[in-house]
Amino acid sequence: MEPSEELKNIFSEFNTGSGFKSAARIGSGHINETYRVSTNHPKKSYTLQKINSNIFKDIPNLMKNIEVVTRHLENKIISGDKEAGSFSALRLIPTRHNQLFHEDPSGNYWRLYNFIKGISFDTVTNTDYAFKGGKAFGLFQFLTSDVPIESLSETIPNFHNIEKRLESFHKVVNADPVNRVKHLIREIEFVKRREDEMMLLQNLINNGKIPIRVTHNDTKFNNILFDQKDNAVCIVDLDTVMPGTVLFDFGDAIRTGANRAVEDESDLGKVSIDIDLFEAYSKGYMEIACRFLNPEEVSNLAFSAKFMTFIIGLRFLTDHIDGDKYYRIHFPGHNIQRARSQFRLLETMEQKFDKMKAIIARIVAGKV
Ligand SMILES: Nc1ncnc2c1ncn2[C@@H]1O[C@H](COP(=O)(O)OP(=O)(O)O)[C@@H](O)[C@H]1O
Ligand SMILES: [Mg+2]
Repeated sequence: MEPSEELKNIFSEFNTGSGFKSAARIGSGHINETYRVSTNHPKKSYTLQKINSNIFKDIPNLMKNIEVVTRHLENKIISGDKEAGSFSALRLIPTRHNQLFHEDPSGNYWRLYNFIKGISFDTVTNTDYAFKGGKAFGLFQFLTSDVPIESLSETIPNFHNIEKRLESFHKVVNADPVNRVKHLIREIEFVKRREDEMMLLQNLINNGKIPIRVTHNDTKFNNILFDQKDNAVCIVDLDTVMPGTVLFDFGDAIRTGANRAVEDESDLGKVSIDIDLFEAYSKGYMEIACRFLNPEEVSNLAFSAKFMTFIIGLRFLTDHIDGDKYYRIHFPGHNIQRARSQFRLLETMEQKFDKMKAIIARIVAGKV
């Protein structure tokens, strides 16, 4: 079957009332296959996605989470203030059998959204975009801050559970299955020296000081859609929406967006937290997030960037010691290169930590 014939058949499973005209691959996402479907109705186009079921194991609950969050957002956008109204609503289109997704004869899972007119950028190029990115994720969190958290499932259990991640790390270091530990004394020490400190957020959650809220869990810049006037209009990529702390999202946005080097940069001299991008993102974020964050969350924003950088580096290191079972590698040693790059980023955050905290304090005091 021609690819477009297959897409046409899949599209016809959804309840759109429109005829398929053409489909074009869009986006640079690494996880799902995403297509824009044009129809015989000039104003109606859709986003068809094949969901990556190798990565996502619990598709029914994943789709329920998306349904809960997108419906909630849509209601808020319709009835909310000017700020909420600047967002476009992402809407799931059900199948003809009124399901949230379609399973094709080969066992692939598909979903359909309305198409949102906008573009995404893979990297944050300047402080203006960093500010807008921060504001967009702040708005997403604000608009979802009153979603009843029991209505969401933990579709990837223990995703950012540091205790479990450290447990797996120690287990694999002890087992040393591919004899790599002897070359990694420095990296293993690097982790051990920070273990206690990195328990902080988990302890605050356990003590009820940090609330469980809707967490996006993939706050990369290319998951924000911008319109032609460069305004953020939508947050996409809701596959990992789960209960968590909003600090995971803030921290990961800084880890990925405020470092001008790539995640697996081999030239460690290039890896560093960019304080200007950090400040701009934080400023945009707090413009909205000050409405709902509690003081404990605010005082841990800067720390959350260190935490997310540590936990991702730890996972790369663990996988390297384990013989590269989880992350796909493009060359031997890729995972240790990734880990070193993250640990270098963390060191630069440690060096600039007082500055980062001072920036947040100044923003909170309205002085930036
Ligand atoms: N509803 C939508 N409307 C318009 N473009 C979209 C929509 N959903 C996704 N995209 C585009 O497709 C890209 C990939 O989609 P995404 O859901 O982020 O999948 P991945 O998990 O593969 O990153 C996005 O970065 C965005 O550019
Ligand atoms: Mg994406």
